[in-house]
Order: sequence, then C-alpha cells, then structure tokens
Amino acid sequence: MSRKLFVTTALPYANAPFHIGHIMEYIQADIWVRFQRMQQDDGAPREVHFVCADDAHGAPIMIAAEKAGKTPQEFVREIAEGRKKPLGGFHINFDNWDSTDSPENHELSREIYKNLKANGLIDARTIEQFFDPVKEMFLPDRYIKGECPKCGAKDQNGDSCEVCGSVYAPTDLKNPYSVLSGTSPVLKTSEHFFFRLSDPQCVAFLREWALGAVNGHPRLQPEVANKAKEWLEGKDGAESGLSDWDISRDAPYFGIEIPDAPGKYFYVWLDAPVGYLASLKNYFRKTGGDFDAFMADPQTEQYHFIGKDIIYFHTLFWPAMLHFSGKKTPDNVFVHGFITVSGEKMSKSRGTGISPLRYLDIGMDPEWLRYYIAAKLNAHVEDVDFTAEDFIARVNADLIGKYVNIASRAAGFIFKKFGGRIDPGIPESSDSLLGHLRAGADEIASLYEAREYGRVLRQIMQYADMVNAYTDEHKPWVLAKDPMYEALLHEVCSKLLEAFRILTIYLKPVLPALAEKVEAFLNLPSMQWADVYTPMKSGHLINAYTHLMQRVDERLMDALLEPDAPVPGAGESNDAAQAIEHIAPEITIEDFEKVDLRVAKIVECSLVDGANRLLRLSLDVGEGRLRNVFAGIRSAYQPEDLVGKMTVMVANLAPRKMKFGISEGMVLAASDPDDSGIYILQPWPGATPGMKIR
Ligand code: 2FM
Ligand code: ZN
Repeated sequence: MSRKLFVTTALPYANAPFHIGHIMEYIQADIWVRFQRMQQDDGAPREVHFVCADDAHGAPIMIAAEKAGKTPQEFVREIAEGRKKPLGGFHINFDNWDSTDSPENHELSREIYKNLKANGLIDARTIEQFFDPVKEMFLPDRYIKGECPKCGAKDQNGDSCEVCGSVYAPTDLKNPYSVLSGTSPVLKTSEHFFFRLSDPQCVAFLREWALGAVNGHPRLQPEVANKAKEWLEGKDGAESGLSDWDISRDAPYFGIEIPDAPGKYFYVWLDAPVGYLASLKNYFRKTGGDFDAFMADPQTEQYHFIGKDIIYFHTLFWPAMLHFSGKKTPDNVFVHGFITVSGEKMSKSRGTGISPLRYLDIGMDPEWLRYYIAAKLNAHVEDVDFTAEDFIARVNADLIGKYVNIASRAAGFIFKKFGGRIDPGIPESSDSLLGHLRAGADEIASLYEAREYGRVLRQIMQYADMVNAYTDEHKPWVLAKDPMYEALLHEVCSKLLEAFRILTIYLKPVLPALAEKVEAFLNLPSMQWADVYTPMKSGHLINAYTHLMQRVDERLMDALLEPDAPVPGAGESNDAAQAIEHIAPEITIEDFEKVDLRVAKIVECSLVDGANRLLRLSLDVGEGRLRNVFAGIRSAYQPEDLVGKMTVMVANLAPRKMKFGISEGMVLAASDPDDSGIYILQPWPGATPGMKIR
C-alpha cells in the first residue's frame, strides 16, 4: 500500500502580500511534498495533496477593508489575486489555494462546532469585555494592547504574548489601551461561547496526543513537546494549565455566523485551521475526489507545516477540536523558526527584510533561494539567518561550483566528440564512484523525510566533491588532446554525466526547474527517486548542453537588500552587458524584411580539404534542390554532429564564389566576439524546411 498524505502550510492572513517568512515555510513544505511525490511504495506512487488558503476572517481584515473603502470580500479577493505570481515564481506547487470564507469552510466550521456542542464541550457564559466607547464596538483582541499577564512584556496583543508565547484573554492584560482610539477601554457584558479545553477529557486527550509516542518515538519535535508540556502542566495543584477558549465574537465581525446565535461569529482562530480541511474538500470537489472517504481512511496521514509562533493553536486547540468533533487528528505538526535578515528579527506583521516580489522582479533565480533556504533548514525549531555573503557563497561555490559545473565539463566532449552518445561500456554497478553515489539514496531519502535538508545538501555536496576529484584525476581536457585516449575520454565523460544525473535526482525536490532542464539536456523523462538505480542506457543519446544556471552577481544582492540600489542589467550596465559586442545602428522593419531567413535542413555535411575553418553543408530549404553553403564552424562541430539537424539560413544572399566552390547562402550561428564559442541556431521542434522566419 502506498502512503496517502495530506500536507498544509499555515494559512496567511489575507491582509498583506507574502513576506519572506511565508516563502520560507512554503519552500520547506514544497520540498517535502516534491520529495514524497518522487517516492513509490511497492511500485505505486504516493498520493499527496498539498493545499493552502487565505485566512480571510477577523477584525483586522474587516477594519483594513473598511479603511480601503472595500467590502471585506473584495479586499480579500484582491489579496488572493496577488498570490499566484510569487507562488509560481518560487515553484511552490500547491494543488489548491482557497479562502477560509469559502462555502466549504462555513459548512465544516459549523459542523465541527455543532459536534463539539453535542459532546458537551461548548459553554455559553456572560463575560465582561472591553468596549471602545469612542468607536462604539467591542474591541478585537488585536486592538487592545497592554502588558502580558504572565511575563510583563509591554505592548502585547490581547490574545497572546510574542515574548513568552502565553495565550490569554484580553481582560487579563495589565494597563490595557485601545489601539483604534487610544482611549482606555471600558468593560461591558456580552454572552460568549467557550470551548471547554480545561475539561478533564480534553486534558487527558491532549496529554496523550502532544506528549505521547507514535511508533515508539515522541510525536512532536523536542522543543515543541516542551512547550506543550509547560502548557499542559497544572500549576499550584491545578488539574492542568489549560483554560477554556473563547471562540465567539460579537457583530460587527467578518467571519462565520454561529449556528442558532444571531449576531455571534466564530473567532477567526476557530475557522482558520478548519480552512485546511475546507481547502482540501474544495480541491476534491473540483477534481472529483472523495473528501469524506480520504479523511476516513486510517491510512491517510495529515501534516501541518507551521511557524513557532502558532504552536499553541496547532498542538492544543486544533487536535482537540478535531478529536472531540469526531474527526481525524493531525499526525504531526512540523514547526520551523523565524527567518532573520543579517541577524535582524523580522516582525510577522511588519514583514521587513527581503521582499519576495522584489527578489523575482530584479531577476534573481528562485532556485538560488530554494537552495539557500534548504541548506539552512533542519528539523529543529531554529531561526534561519539570511546574509548576502553566505547566500553568494553557497550558491556560487557549492551549487554552481561543485554541482552544475560537473555537467558543463563533461557534456561538451560527449556532444562534440561522440555525437551525443553515452559510452556503451560505462560500468554500472561495479563502478565504485557511481556505486557509492547510488548507495546514498536511502540515507538521503530518510533525511528528506525528517526535514533535515541542510544535511541532505551537505551529503550531496560531498558526493559532488568526489565527482570533481574524479574529474581532476582523469583530466578529460587532457585526454581530449590525444586520439589514443578517445575510448577513455568517452568512458570518463559518460560516467561524469551519469554521476550528474544521480545528483540531479537527489536535488530535484529542492531544484525542480533545474532538474527539468537537466532532464531535457540528458534526454530523459521526468526522473523519480528509484531512477537512481537505472543508469542511462548504452548508447543513450543526449542533447546539446544548454546553460543551466547563472552565478549570483553581488550587485543583485545590494539591489535586493537596499531598495534604492540599482538593479544590474536594468539600465545600469553589468559585467555581461560590458562583455557583449556593440549593438548595430537602428534599422527599420523594411530593412529587416530585405533579409529572407528560412528554416533549412542539413542533409549532408563534410570537411573541406585545405580549409580547416570550414564545413561544407548541403541544405534543403524546400525548393526541390539542395543548396551548397560553406560555413566557418569547423572548430565547433564535427560533420556528423550536424547531419539531419535543422538550422536557419539567409536564403537571398548573393552567391559567393570561393576557392572551393560557390556558396549559396549563409547559416546563422551565435558566437563570442573572438569566435571562441560558436553555436548554430536551431528552430524549435516542428519547424520544417523552407519556413520563412519573420
Ligand atoms: O498566524 C497566521 O498567520 C495565521 N493566519 C495562521 C493560520 S494557520 C491555520 F490555522 F489556518
Ligand atoms: Zn509574556
């Protein structure tokens, strides 16, 4: 039986664009999900569903919408529209992005509430609550600040303390004030509903869920279990440290109306986690899946990736809500720390530091960030510090210097000298280097499973070091100079590409787009984990090497971290810009139309006696005859590299009489100013001889 997984990330409040902390969490979860999707159990792929949604409800969003002159629904919809670009940009592959204001969530939240009520776990109590006499409304938690009742920290929110993590009622705050009007709020009575978390059956269940073991191992990460223990332990002889949880709010409120209680709404934190289920249900509805059957299946595993600031909600409220409403409880919550930028703490609401959209807008490669974040993450609740120097070093020295370069060093020889064919004789299982690399598959898989991504990448880089040592030992560039070593050169380069293929599989969860480019270059279908053990076949034909990844330019980091710094390549010149040849003077479209460019098929190709820079090409441009063209590309291509390929030629160039014959046109190739690299143009597959290029 293959595993069935339901994976979520925390639902972001729908009142601001993503900050870098969101992106870090999504990258962490996306890597895990991509890893799971590459696995098979007994030959069958795992079933993995990965969803998220906007956390739409609550007073802050209601107030922000009002300020913007919009309905909360409009406000939230506009925020949702901005989600696609960064998610796609960083290759974060959610199956569904929903909103907690969806019909599914309204329905599920009410159902869960009704079940809790039927089980005797909901109490109605009249409470005194802060009321802003100037604004004439009960004050939402976030709009009352004061000193934490537990640790005394100043300016803490009304529901929980950012310093010590305690959760409490706003009335517990010392010296409260209204953020909306600045006045001291007054107390007013209102009927509220409470989830009786202090009930002994809840406490007993939570002790078991949060502190118990699963398959002989503690369920929660040690830091998380310690927190939960602290919260669950009763102080001064009390049954437990848990208090009942106020789950209702009075109108005006943007949220879900409580059944049989007009004017009362669920507190946003009640319906937010239900949004996990609602998004999955919405996804199943759209794709024809059976939500109830999936959630009722004892095989289904449910995991939530979250930040350390919302542990309380996910290890106490959420499992209890699910358990006592008769639903499946989470198998685990995976907690990460915060991301700091150059040591500076980023506040959740202020979201300073690195802007994900700016990162993309200035043209930085999203996979640099995926790689960097993965390199810094482990299974602990530790903060991750982003620094420019570290980022540049890891990407340029490790990712590109050690891994990407393996391919660029080997591919040219295979392509130019051996027609793109992998050596039929590459030793497979008996080879010690490749055998060693393959033997790491299980360990790397366990590290991914355990979210030890830093260790995954360290292991892969060690393998890359071994591969590079092998290259340095065998020096393909030296072998290439002596025809006597041709067979050895073929073997060495083939082995290097096979090693590169294995490392690419290991890196694929982190670098999905790069892996796709490698698959195209190696001419392989989408690689799964088990493909580690299936070497490229004898004589397998690869495609020409295409550049896989750019190095990080230091000035891009300045542009990212200091919004006023120039963006290299945008107006201001950069290294690459200085290196290119001058752009020729402007021409009109009529000028351009004078040049008749056609797709041409290279039917024959041969060396030219007495001309060591030239190749003679016979080109089919669909005219029913072949054209004879001499091209100065001998240094870059062997005749057999080109036969059968498509290219582009100037078809109306006056014939030119040369020493070796008449040249009836010109093929197009890109080159460096000194002709050190020459690259023939090739149309995309599907173009046929004679097609005009316009
Ligand atoms: O802390 C937050 O950003 C919340 N919007 C997270 C909600 S997670 C889940 F419960 F919905
Ligand atoms: Zn505190």
